[in-house]
Amino acid sequence: MEIIHLSFECYPVAKAGGLGDVVGALPKYQTKAGHYAKVVMPMHRTKFLNTHEWDVDFKGRANIGNWWFDYTVIKERNNTLGFDLFLIDINGLLDREQIYGFADDTQRYIGFQVSFINWLDHWEHKPDVIHCHDYHVGLVPFMLKYCYQYSRLGDIPTVLTIHNAQYQGWMGWDQSFMLPTYDTWKGGLLEWSGDINPLASAVKNAWKVNTVSWSYMEELRYNSNGLEALFEYERGKCSGVLNGIDTDVWDPATDKFIDVNYDATTVDKNKQKNKEALCKEFNLDPQKPLIVFIGRLVGEKAADLLPDAIASAMYSMQGYVNFLVLGSGDPHIEWQLKQMTQTFKGSYNAMIGYNEALSHKMYAGADFLLMPSRVEPCGLNQMYAMKYGTVPMVRSTGGLIDTVTDMGEWQGWGIRFMQASVGDIMHAISRAVGLYYDDKKTLARMRKHMMEIDNSWEKSVQQYLNIYLSLK
Ligand code: ADP
Ligand code: GLC
Repeated sequence: MEIIHLSFECYPVAKAGGLGDVVGALPKYQTKAGHYAKVVMPMHRTKFLNTHEWDVDFKGRANIGNWWFDYTVIKERNNTLGFDLFLIDINGLLDREQIYGFADDTQRYIGFQVSFINWLDHWEHKPDVIHCHDYHVGLVPFMLKYCYQYSRLGDIPTVLTIHNAQYQGWMGWDQSFMLPTYDTWKGGLLEWSGDINPLASAVKNAWKVNTVSWSYMEELRYNSNGLEALFEYERGKCSGVLNGIDTDVWDPATDKFIDVNYDATTVDKNKQKNKEALCKEFNLDPQKPLIVFIGRLVGEKAADLLPDAIASAMYSMQGYVNFLVLGSGDPHIEWQLKQMTQTFKGSYNAMIGYNEALSHKMYAGADFLLMPSRVEPCGLNQMYAMKYGTVPMVRSTGGLIDTVTDMGEWQGWGIRFMQASVGDIMHAISRAVGLYYDDKKTLARMRKHMMEIDNSWEKSVQQYLNIYLSLK
């Protein structure tokens, strides 16, 4: 099958979070399974662009309203990522270092989508499926079906994967002029609650829809930032496909970022060595349990609770536990977390920023990984942690329910809690600390067990294939 993935992120080309990891891995494993998977994304000005070789594949001209622009499609020459990678450039719109966060993001998303469809219209053949990731490319299913100019493409099947339904790309109707001329009778298929809503439009118009875990799919019918009724109505075409992890990148036995490699047979000894190196770098005590947080410092991840939770743990258990935080996001949370490094020197530290190499060292060197997320469609951190023998401490939500079992269950390997609250986090921390000091045997059993769990992409590749085949 020929599968085109459309996304704004793809690791290692450009990544802001888990979306990048998934789009960097799924096509590779689809290719390994014998399919022809391609990724098409914007030509963000990241390091990858300058360090790889490219050929110009196509040059075209398209428009957003009255503004006509030239676009260029380039292709990575050496198939470095294990699949064909195409980047679309539009001068003045997509030529930026950052992926998101600009005042003209709506134009950027539309410019990318319009250029892609315009380019596709010049192909001599049609792909088997166009697989759209998140709302940034959510208008494509509608445009393929109802824009007069592209009516030839209307029978190409589309799949939408929702990595996060919190963000929907709302835009007022006054901006509808940016879309290529469409059948206005179908305008309702762009709309939700009075606005143009690219995510809702994708749910309505894609042939099949999935999210990245089963529990999150269920949750969306009760809690999806206003789209609850839509998910209830469209449930017949919706399903859950759990993400996998790319073991070429995330495997403690081969990971080049970590100090000492290990597997399930050497985890106890070698995790300690990684922990010692990490603790030395951040002035922590390697004899005490090390709990880490890695992620975006936003409300969705309940990062606002971290300062209070860590301070409470420090006051009630100081001398018994270490914390290390890596993240960036809300400036106030960043400031709080940084301030606290002075107060709790020697037991707590924080690295504010984005640091891929350090994240690997932390998965390898930590004993526990905290994820109190309020919303977690799948979550990759807990799966990486498990692969590295690091006990996940997670709130019971979305993908965290589907991937982590509490240590109180038969053969369980994690610590789960119900509420995103300082109290619940504190209780989880006291369970973790108790486990570390008083039940080394259970901890060793849990580590070994979680490292052997198969969260590889192969299973999910087959599930996506079944979705594609159902469109024929
Ligand atoms: P989300 O996509 O919602 O942020 P995921 O758990 O799916 O959450 O994926 C997060 C990904 O981003 C993981 O690969 C994680 O290691 C990485 N990550 C998040 N914040 C940072 C950071 N500050 N530095 C390095 N990696 C980070
Ligand atoms: C989103 C979600 C995260 C998920 C990732 C990859 O960023 O917040 O839970 O793991 O996408 O699907």
